[in-house]
Amino acid sequence: MSLLDTPLTRHTGIEVPLIGGAMYPCSNPELVAAVSDAGGVGIVQPISLTYVHGHDYREGLRYIRRLTPKPIGFNALIESSSRRYHERMVRWVAIALEEGIRFFITSLGNPRWVVDAVTPMGGVVYHDVTERKWALKGLQAGVHGLIAVNNRAGGHAGPKSAEALIEELGDLGLPLVCAGGVGTPEQFVQALRLGYAGVQLGTRFIATTECRASEAYKQAIVRASENDIVLTERVSGVPLSVIDTPYIRRMGLKAGPLARWMLRGQRRKRWMRMIYALKSFYQLKHASLDETGEKDYWQAGKSVAGINAVEPAGAIVRRFAAAAAVVDAAEKRVGTTR
Ligand SMILES: Cc1cc2nc3c(=O)[nH]c(=O)nc-3n(C[C@H](O)[C@H](O)[C@H](O)COP(=O)(O)O)c2cc1C
Repeated sequence: MSLLDTPLTRHTGIEVPLIGGAMYPCSNPELVAAVSDAGGVGIVQPISLTYVHGHDYREGLRYIRRLTPKPIGFNALIESSSRRYHERMVRWVAIALEEGIRFFITSLGNPRWVVDAVTPMGGVVYHDVTERKWALKGLQAGVHGLIAVNNRAGGHAGPKSAEALIEELGDLGLPLVCAGGVGTPEQFVQALRLGYAGVQLGTRFIATTECRASEAYKQAIVRASENDIVLTERVSGVPLSVIDTPYIRRMGLKAGPLARWMLRGQRRKRWMRMIYALKSFYQLKHASLDETGEKDYWQAGKSVAGINAVEPAGAIVRRFAAAAAVVDAAEKRVGTTR
């Protein structure tokens, strides 16, 4: 059995079972292309592509295509609290298919409409989950794989460890991808050896030369240790993993009383979610690009502990692949001498 030849690599036609995860606001086209070009798969975050990095959506996809001929993926956040947003996402998925994308990662909501659109075109859908109940919903909707987001992830982390998730989801018969806490080649190999079909990395790819995030943000990731990562509800109403800074401490980590009241009622909750979504899109965009670092909502996960330099994304993918290839070669040798 090879660590580099997995259901994920076969589903997507990539060489290294490594996903450069979608990151609002950090997924710029050059970063997505660099991960794919080195043999992994970079994921387009459409709001990041258009609103943060200023590309027309279809032209942005074509720009990435000019940077690499290799497969790329698309992140569909399918939370449906706004009809306009849902309609836009339906259009974006259709255009992604027209532009040749065949790998889709859905987050939140029910992924069935994405599966129905993508499967007849020969594509696959992997669904982000943090626990079994969401995985069962994905399974019912016909997804082809699951991204198991664990408690060390950047962005919105889940409550469970990578080990617990593989235990909990292992019997569902779907390929599982480990998302969270992987910052070094050793951790990459460890996740594959646990039985994961691939690994999704976010934080590691912010500290790269291709990422357009500010230098201050990248250096904060390089400097940070695991204890510097805290969860704040101030940005999106649900815990978001960020680097502890004086600004974060000034703002506090809990949602304010008005937000908490809004989040309690069914109808109010929908409004509050929408307000949070708009506010966080604005806030995170500015924080990620601002060189002064005064209002620093710097999203990052616990993998910061293993990130010690800003490097080209391709070098990271190749280093991780080489570490897995060494294990593969050693196991083959043992196999032939047995
Ligand atoms: C800055 C940042 C933004 C993120 N934005 C998104 C997003 O828009 N959509 C999504 O599905 N996941 C998002 N994620 C999660 C990543 O795709 C990935 O699953 C996660 O970062 C893996 O954990 P790691 O940061 O420890 O590598 C984000 C993560 C980070 C760090």
